[in-house]
Amino acid sequence: MKPPYPYADAPRLPEGDRVDVSKLVSGRSYELEVGPGRGGFLLERAAAVPDAALIGLEIRKKWATLVDRRLDKAGYRLRARVFAEDAKLALPRLAPDGVFSRAFLHFPDPWWKKRHEKRLVMGDAFLAEVARLLARGGELFLQSDVEERVAEYEAHVAMSPAFAPAGDAPGSPRIADNPYVARSPRERRAIADGLPIFRLRYTRT
Ligand SMILES: C[S@@+](CC[C@H](N)C(=O)[O-])C[C@H]1O[C@@H](n2cnc3c(N)ncnc32)[C@H](O)[C@@H]1O
Repeated sequence: MKPPYPYADAPRLPEGDRVDVSKLVSGRSYELEVGPGRGGFLLERAAAVPDAALIGLEIRKKWATLVDRRLDKAGYRLRARVFAEDAKLALPRLAPDGVFSRAFLHFPDPWWKKRHEKRLVMGDAFLAEVARLLARGGELFLQSDVEERVAEYEAHVAMSPAFAPAGDAPGSPRIADNPYVARSPRERRAIADGLPIFRLRYTRT
């Protein structure tokens, strides 16, 4: 007999079309990470910003479960959680509009084939949901070691009037370093391997 899947009880968002973020975690400001993977960014961010409340949406049940447990063990349960959710389905359910101060997308979308296009997280629907969920002046931060992808993201976000570039130089979203005192696992690996990382930052207009 097949053993039971060990992550069948992965943490999920409450059911319903409107999930109030402030009922999931509490803090002075709310931050969102899509696709936290092994979760290092959320743990480090929770330690670095003690009054931030953090939500991670991770499609892989295993990583959502393990990272959510690690956050709990580190004492952050009331203000940092990861839910096993497909961000494409979960983001439209989050409320209220303007709840988040920051949204992070670190090293997303490692798919290149045309037939995998539908898996891509970053796109019009993602940007529309992030625009809805970010407070005015809130920040969107994207980074990857894949230069062409970041160039595509940059061109894509440039078409949205909801976001203004907020990089190192006026009028550009390019930012040399990650200013959030927390790094994602892929970011740490890229740094260790000496790979360049391409980063973009925007504010919600
Ligand atoms: C390349 S990994 C990067 C992980 C982490 N952000 C980092 O920088 O180390 C991409 C992550 O996004 C997750 N992911 C992909 N599609 C997703 C979706 N639709 N909703 C939520 N998470 C997703 C994957 O499971 C994986 O953990």
